Amino acid sequence: MEDFYNMENVTIFTHPLIQHKISLMRDKNTGTNEFRKLAEEVATLEGFEALSDLPLEDVEIETPIEKCTTKMIAGRKLAIVPILRAGLGMVPGLLTLVPSAKVGHIGMYRDEVTHEPVEYYCKLPSPIEERTIVVTDPMLATGGSACDAIAQIKRHGGVHIKFMCIIAAPVGLKRLHETHPDVQIYVGHLDRELNKDAYICPGLGDAGDRIFGTK
Ligand code: PRP
Ligand code: URA
Repeated sequence: MEDFYNMENVTIFTHPLIQHKISLMRDKNTGTNEFRKLAEEVATLEGFEALSDLPLEDVEIETPIEKCTTKMIAGRKLAIVPILRAGLGMVPGLLTLVPSAKVGHIGMYRDEVTHEPVEYYCKLPSPIEERTIVVTDPMLATGGSACDAIAQIKRHGGVHIKFMCIIAAPVGLKRLHETHPDVQIYVGHLDRELNKDAYICPGLGDAGDRIFGTK
């Protein structure tokens, strides 16, 4: 078993607020409205840490008291790229932190039999090269969707890529880390395993269905 907790590019959150909110999301009695709100809140809490290395620059500001030199986010701007559909549920939580971020979209669904991802849409902010890119998807199960989405972003020229999920399975985290070792990975909670249908156990079920109220 890999020691994910000591890997340089992997952050597995232990913050009590994140753990508490994920437990509420797991509960099958949590309805769509509350589930959506919790996904946003977890994304904000994770984003606070994931964006802690955004570069700053000095700017001149005049306060009501005096002129001063102070810090603002510089240069490289942010792009948020949700993996459709479920990744959309994390976007408002990150926009709360950086309202000016551009948002791209990658459409992927898992084939129900093979569990392999099928891409159906890709639209990214251009130019993408200079941006810090945060890919969002609540669930990292086999890792296929995240690996393919990030490969697609790299083909478009993306370089500075982070991946943020709410729950990961060990097999998916290992695959993503090995396939894209340059990508910083943020995980709200590392769960036990996948079941025979490639669902995360204990997990929270189908994240897309729970966010959008479908089934
Ligand atoms: C879910 C989830 C991920 C993917 C994870 O999406 O949101 O994108 O499965 O599984 P993987 O790591 O094994 O690839 P799904 O295919 O259910 O599509 P949806 O978001 O449109 O519901
Ligand atoms: N996708 C989900 O939405 N949930 C899982 O447990 C696995 C893949």
